[in-house]
Order: sequence, then C-alpha cells, then structure tokens
Amino acid sequence: MPGLFSRTPKEADATYDASGIIPVHVGIIMDGNGRWARARGMPRAAGHRAGTKNIRRVLIEAVEIGIKALTVYAFSTENWARPKDEVNHLMRLISQGIQDELDELDARGVRILHSGRLAGVSPSLQEEIRGAVARTKDNDVITLNVAFNYGGRAEIVDAIKAIMRAGVSPEDVTEELVSQHLYASDLPDPDLIIRTGGEFRLSNFLIWQAAYAEFYSTPTYWPDFDEAELRKAVAVFQHRDRRFGKIKDAER
Ligand code: FPP
Repeated sequence: MPGLFSRTPKEADATYDASGIIPVHVGIIMDGNGRWARARGMPRAAGHRAGTKNIRRVLIEAVEIGIKALTVYAFSTENWARPKDEVNHLMRLISQGIQDELDELDARGVRILHSGRLAGVSPSLQEEIRGAVARTKDNDVITLNVAFNYGGRAEIVDAIKAIMRAGVSPEDVTEELVSQHLYASDLPDPDLIIRTGGEFRLSNFLIWQAAYAEFYSTPTYWPDFDEAELRKAVAVFQHRDRRFGKIKDAER
C-alpha cells in the first residue's frame, strides 16, 4: 500500500509528453555526489568531479526539452562547514568549470547568472564569476543560474537590506517588491524543484521562490541523473495538478 508521502502509482507511470506543458524554470538540488563516489570506492572529490560534468549533460537535455532556466545548487552558505579540503576542492571545481566550459556555454547561447554572496569568495573566483555573467548576459537559449555561496534565508535578508537602504516605507513593501530584490530577479519562480540523492527537503534552496513549485525527489545520485531522469521528472510535473492555492474550475 502506498504510504502517506509516497508517490502515487499515477506518477510512477507518468510518461513525458513533448507537446505537454514544459516547466519554464527548474531548480536542481544536486545531492549524492559523495555517496556516488563511496559506492564506487572512490574519494568524495571524484563524486564532485562527476557531478560537475553532469551539469553539462542535464543542461543540454534541458535545452532539448525547452526549459528556459535551470538553477543549480552548487554550494550553500552551510557548505563552508565541510572539511577544508572538500571546500577547496569545490571552489577549484567551480573555477575550473568556468575556465573549461565558458567558451562552449557562450557558443551554445547559455546565459550564466550567479545567485549568492560574492563576499567571502576568493577575489580571483569572484572575478571569474563576474566575467562569465558579463560575457553571456545577452544569450537567450537558456539561463544557467548557479546558486553558489547561496542560502535562501541569506537571500531574503539581502533583499530586505536593499529595500531598507532604498528607503522604501513599510506600506510599500509587497511580495512583488521582495521578489524584485532577490539575486536573480528577472527569472520567473521555479515551476519544478528536483532533488537527487533521495531526501525530501529544500535545504534553504530558493525558499521564497519555491512557494508554489512542484517538488520531485529521486533516489538517483546526481552524477547518475541523466537525460531520461530529467524527462521523467518533467513527466511527473506534467501529471501534477497545480492549483496555486485555488480550486479546480470543475469543483466551483
Ligand atoms: C551534494 O553532494 C553536492 C554538493 C554539495 C556540491 C555540488 C557541486 C557541484 C556538482 C559542482 C558545481 C560546479 C559548477 C561548475 C557549478 P554531497 O557531497 O552532499 O553528497 P552526499 O550527500 O552523498 O554526501
């Protein structure tokens, strides 16, 4: 018997429909790199390397499907608490990723955005991130928003600070105004949040923007999350009944 929180049989059978509704913005919590590596008797760093490579595969498939924006959770404000070696390795991967992939990303029409705080990041990496964002700003095939040194609560705090600095009076504070002061304010709210690695939580990812996002969790570890897995997630999304707090017309 399906448990209270398990996926319904209908979702397990969901098939992807290329002419169905396609999520515009998809957020991905790329979890399970460490377990993927351990399962192969490899160091965690190997899992992060494989995870970094996987972003390319999923991004290409996202373009194929017609998704217009991907936000990937690359490094959270809480990840600084990991062992120093692992933190350094993740920093190097991001830097290397930009150096190795920027030409191709730009050529493919990928617009790169960064969500998160640059303060606390090494000056050279700050420069690389700013450079990647500036170079690709006019691209329009897909937006790759990299949540790096990112925390959803920190993002809301930063928005509040910006609003207060602008001298906005309390009566003028609206949900729209807060949304406009978030890091990637020109992106629509995510329609779908995917979490690999089997957990069912947001872990401080896009907590404001995900208010009405559909949540999809798969036990697949991030490095193994391939094209078919992305299509499966979209298929499940297509079978969801999104009501945004309202009721269905048929039930009026
Ligand atoms: C979670 O796996 C993954 C991370 C904390 C980091 C994800 C980062 C990348 C894939 C690199 C990003 C690079 C670029 C260029 C954007 P985990 O270590 O928590 O795995 P575990 O839960 O199995 O231990």
